[in-house]
Amino acid sequence: HLIDTLKDGQIKFFNPYKLNDPRYDKLPLSIRVLLEAAIRNCDGFYTKQEDVRNILHWQQEQNKAEVPFSPARVLLQDFTGIPAMVDLAAMRDAVAKHGVDPSLVNPKCPTDLIVDHSLQIDYSKWPPSRGGAQCGGQRGSCSKAACSDSPGGSPASVQQIENTPLLCPFHLQPVSEVETALRNQEMELIRNKERLQFFKWCSKAFKNVNVVPPDVGAVHQLNLEYLSRVVQVSDGFIYPDSVVGTDSHTTMINGLGILGWGVGGIESEAIMLGQPISLTLPQVVGCKLVGSINPLTTSIDIVLGITKHLRQAGIAGKFVEFFGPGVSQLSVPDRTTIANMCPEYNATVSFFPVDQVTLKHFKKTSELVTASSYMKAVKLFRSYDDPSEDPQYSEVIEFNLSSMVPYVSGPKRPQDRVAVSSMKEDFQSCLDEKVGFKGFHIAKEKQEIRVPFLHGGQEYQLSHGSVVIAAVISCTNNCNPSVMLTAGLLARKAVEAGLLVKPYIRTSLAPGSGMVTHYLNASGVLPYFNKLGFEVIGYGCATCVGNTAPLPEAVVDAIKQGDLVACGVLSGNRHFEGRLCDCVRANYLASPPLVVAYAIAGTVGVDFEKEPLGLTSDGKEVYLRDIWPSREEVQQIEEDTVFSSIFKDLRGRMEKGNTFWKNVECSDSLLFPWDHKSTYIRSPSFFSKLVKVPPPQSIENAHALLFLGDKVTTDHISPAGSIARVSAAAKYLMSKRLTPREFNSYGARRGNDAVMTRGTFASIKLQNRFIGKPGPKTLHIPSGQTLDVFEAADRYQRDGIPLIILAGKDYGSGNSRDWVAKGPYLLGVRAVIAESFEKLHRNQLVGMGIMPLQFLSGQNADSLELSGKERFSITLPESLSPGQELTVKTSQGKSFSVTALFDSDTDVILFQHGGLLRYVARTLL
Ligand SMILES: *[C@@H]1O[C@H](CO)[C@@H](O)[C@H](O)[C@H]1NC(C)=O
Ligand SMILES: *[C@@H]1O[C@H](CO)[C@@H](O)[C@H](O)[C@H]1NC(C)=O
Ligand SMILES: *[C@@H]1O[C@H](CO)[C@@H](O)[C@H](O)[C@H]1NC(C)=O
Repeated sequence: HLIDTLKDGQIKFFNPYKLNDPRYDKLPLSIRVLLEAAIRNCDGFYTKQEDVRNILHWQQEQNKAEVPFSPARVLLQDFTGIPAMVDLAAMRDAVAKHGVDPSLVNPKCPTDLIVDHSLQIDYSKWPPSRGGAQCGGQRGSCSKAACSDSPGGSPASVQQIENTPLLCPFHLQPVSEVETALRNQEMELIRNKERLQFFKWCSKAFKNVNVVPPDVGAVHQLNLEYLSRVVQVSDGFIYPDSVVGTDSHTTMINGLGILGWGVGGIESEAIMLGQPISLTLPQVVGCKLVGSINPLTTSIDIVLGITKHLRQAGIAGKFVEFFGPGVSQLSVPDRTTIANMCPEYNATVSFFPVDQVTLKHFKKTSELVTASSYMKAVKLFRSYDDPSEDPQYSEVIEFNLSSMVPYVSGPKRPQDRVAVSSMKEDFQSCLDEKVGFKGFHIAKEKQEIRVPFLHGGQEYQLSHGSVVIAAVISCTNNCNPSVMLTAGLLARKAVEAGLLVKPYIRTSLAPGSGMVTHYLNASGVLPYFNKLGFEVIGYGCATCVGNTAPLPEAVVDAIKQGDLVACGVLSGNRHFEGRLCDCVRANYLASPPLVVAYAIAGTVGVDFEKEPLGLTSDGKEVYLRDIWPSREEVQQIEEDTVFSSIFKDLRGRMEKGNTFWKNVECSDSLLFPWDHKSTYIRSPSFFSKLVKVPPPQSIENAHALLFLGDKVTTDHISPAGSIARVSAAAKYLMSKRLTPREFNSYGARRGNDAVMTRGTFASIKLQNRFIGKPGPKTLHIPSGQTLDVFEAADRYQRDGIPLIILAGKDYGSGNSRDWVAKGPYLLGVRAVIAESFEKLHRNQLVGMGIMPLQFLSGQNADSLELSGKERFSITLPESLSPGQELTVKTSQGKSFSVTALFDSDTDVILFQHGGLLRYVARTLL
């Protein structure tokens, strides 16, 4: 009865207005997205009516109720995609054995799987990303080294940026890199053949799986420009797009009004299998943007300004939703960059509800009319200028965009910031001050000195503050094309107004990558750069490492003659005294358009407000404000030349595919033809004993595999990093005739359950109370031998002895890792008894059919005087209920109570079926 239609009944949707509930209009739009998903997915099992009520009742239930969220799609990278896909392929085998049509096994949630080059890279070398996502070590994405330490030439941010991860959503891959990639492709293909064949099989065999072949683009770029929609349509229903992904840039998508965040591999697999994510109904902080943007500030300044403000506001773990009249001044790239910075301020998401600006960005994709009428009908579209549409937030923080003023920094250190508006006075005071970071100590009577010289047959004058070097560098700026485009448009307008740069100034343009040159050229500004003397001198770091061509001799002589403080202005992020050139004592970092402006002015001693930049050929004064391009102008060009070309490029590569991918052979079979020789892809044994009726779950006479203390993290549990030469996994791989050089990492072998099981609890930091010192060993209790954890587990399994783990507080904290529950399950662990569990890990254990059991408050293994060497029996009642107390009996005649940490009936059912994978398989039987 909540269903409504659009387009004369052709398209259906769930209309929350049919709930007739006045609270809907007060809900933050991000919460409306959660509500719609709950209504649409309300099946009485994973998502119940009560969940819908709780979300609607957000004002009271925020930060209390646990609610489910079923995103519209899942985004996987190859690394995290392999285990999930391998499990589905194995499930096909399992159901086929029972005579069920294997083609029924498909992801329930549409899944985009992006195969990039990361297969070869050891993912564990990358810092774990925040927000629970696993870092896939993706090539082509923005590693800190590649561009995040680059403030786009904006000195305002030099220091801040030190700690800023992953800044740039629109990092463009340099052309030369693409070419190298092509050359490397063949090698890649040979190395990765098995996995590529497997992925290609997945793309053919599964419904709901879209595989993006290698070399199409970086994950976040594909997500922004290719995979995202305002709405999704399936089975005749239209609904808002939303996504969870294993890419650490997933939150970027919230800049487009698409709710989404990063999750671990095991969570994404659960979503693919149809289980929603469970989250505490979030508080939503409204970030109100007011005021207007100072025209001289660049997008990078704005992004960093807002990020800093949010960081100070303390909003960890909450949603941020933007509103207020200032939002419409932010372009889509500004919004996605801010959204990408979430880890900086620990928000779950930074959501920018869909507005006119968003729709404009999507014009490239069709179906926009229907999409916008749907979004308007359910009020997921808004006008930021109309305060009557503002929801009620948990709290509101306000940010006045006018408070951001443009800065440059110098003259000697990047951390000495100077507001552009006070540059003239600041330089004057530097001349006066005694020698130091902010002083040159020039005698009063020498400050007004003018030194004439000849250059190219013409006479010019130099004075203190004269600019002699001006370098627009974008080794750092490819992150945000709008900044370079602003500089280019400024150059164009300057030339059109008849302004020039004095020819003795050493000007240069270092675009950082071929892609930057390409869009500067495509937008028509490159010739104007050239007319002002900014010629492309090459790529990479030129000027900032002192590679400037020498200054004209006459200039050097004039500087020496007057003992002048001559200046360099550049848009890099490193410079410093004497580095540009010995005779240039003052060096300023400025954004690329300001470099152009100071070059035209010919001096840093200029007050742009009061003094003209120069004169037109007929003697009229031209001020900087007269030729500074408007934000709208820049955004339009950015949309037209940069994003449409990225989009066209991606689509072209998508449609063409590439010959390498085309030539990957793969079978058309419904079941995957496992290659028994493969050491990368192997059918996991999760379904080995799949039967129609779940077996009883009581545990009898179990041994403790491990006796652990407090704070055992997912890094201790899950295989990570390189495979030690002396380890259970190494023995296995050597038995397959691999040499240590060929071992590769656990990350790369996560499609092989034999390796991953052997790597479980193989951490050298594991503190096991059975063993005196840290290491991946345990006591095999019946024999008294000390063995690798895997070998002990293997022996127990062969003897038919079930296993449990004893642990202390906070068991399973740390980042989500996809083998963190699968590994223990395959070792034969049936229950973990701990003092407390990390919530996420508790979910993961239940999802694999392992019981999370908690000692009663105040009790632990020591207070109960357990040695860990006794045998444990846990009898389950006929009907288990959430949070029930169970009795553990030991072979020493002791008994104690523990709480079974099942949160809901759904948890109990999943557990009784032996976890999610077997539950899904069994529903098909
Ligand atoms: C924002 O700041 C500017 C300049 O500081 C001020 O003129 C303006 O009134 C402020 N706007 C709001 C809405 O507070
Ligand atoms: C964000 O979380 C991290 C780790 O939990 C913490 O170290 C950091 O201080 C937090 N930052 C903010 C701004 O809350
Ligand atoms: C700029 O574009 C023109 C026309 O498309 C092309 O001929 C020229 O080679 C390009 N220049 C650069 C430097 O890419």
